[in-house]
Amino acid sequence: MDSKFTVKSFQTAKQQKQKIAMLTAYDYSMARIIDESGVDAILVGDSLGMVVQGNESTLPVTMDEMIYHCCCVSRGVKRALLVGDMPFLSYQVTTEEAVRNAGRFVQEGGADAVKLEGGKAMADVVRAIVRAQIPVMGHIGLTPQSVNIFGGFKVQGKEEDRARALIEDARALEEAGVFAIVLEAVPEELAKLITESVHVPTIGIGAGRWCDGQILVVNDILGMYSDFTPKFVRRYANLKDTIVQAVAQYGGDVRAHRFPARENTFAMDATVLESLRADGEEKRTAI
Ligand code: KIV
Repeated sequence: MDSKFTVKSFQTAKQQKQKIAMLTAYDYSMARIIDESGVDAILVGDSLGMVVQGNESTLPVTMDEMIYHCCCVSRGVKRALLVGDMPFLSYQVTTEEAVRNAGRFVQEGGADAVKLEGGKAMADVVRAIVRAQIPVMGHIGLTPQSVNIFGGFKVQGKEEDRARALIEDARALEEAGVFAIVLEAVPEELAKLITESVHVPTIGIGAGRWCDGQILVVNDILGMYSDFTPKFVRRYANLKDTIVQAVAQYGGDVRAHRFPARENTFAMDATVLESLRADGEEKRTAI
């Protein structure tokens, strides 16, 4: 195993112009596979509200659900930096609650860091969490927890005033102490400007080619979530088709008596079996 990827490695990667590869994960098996495959950081994203729970947005996801998934993922991760995504209302109500909830990700969920959505308006919250010694990743642009304010999952920062506001957001987050900033669904030229105007790495999702790293939802790249595929996703496998084929084959084998075969069964000791059969014989003659 290469050495553990840490928040310091994020900084080094930006300085050395090495791109950072991040993916989401929601359970132990997947986390273990993608950690062993060499991804730098894993986010237990509140996107699990959509791809795991089948909701239309991330808004229904609770802290307890996030902690549960974070625990599962943390057991499968050795090398990657593990980031827990703070769900809706876990950090917006009071700063005290935000620090406590961020602490739960580390103490109960086994996370190395947390991520939260929002720019300038969240700077004080970020500062308080960092003061509690918990590294924070920012997230600006299309922040899915604001879907009702945005009126849908729409590209952000196309207009000059919004673009300027996003640059200010990134600077405010950096100043508040984040170790990286996710830029979601913004024009790539704006992502480039932001990337050049902060010292911390930017991690793009639908933010083009010039971010310091990239993140995608694992179910999207593996072709396991077909409800909706954003333009910025590249599909590296089509596991849905593989699963459909495998399940159909299994069903066919069961119905045609091809499964289980002898090699899938447990054999019994011959003497025990003989004795059981003899008992059965006795009972039948008694009747
Ligand atoms: O919840 C999530 O998975 C995310 C990433 C896609 C950035 O926030």
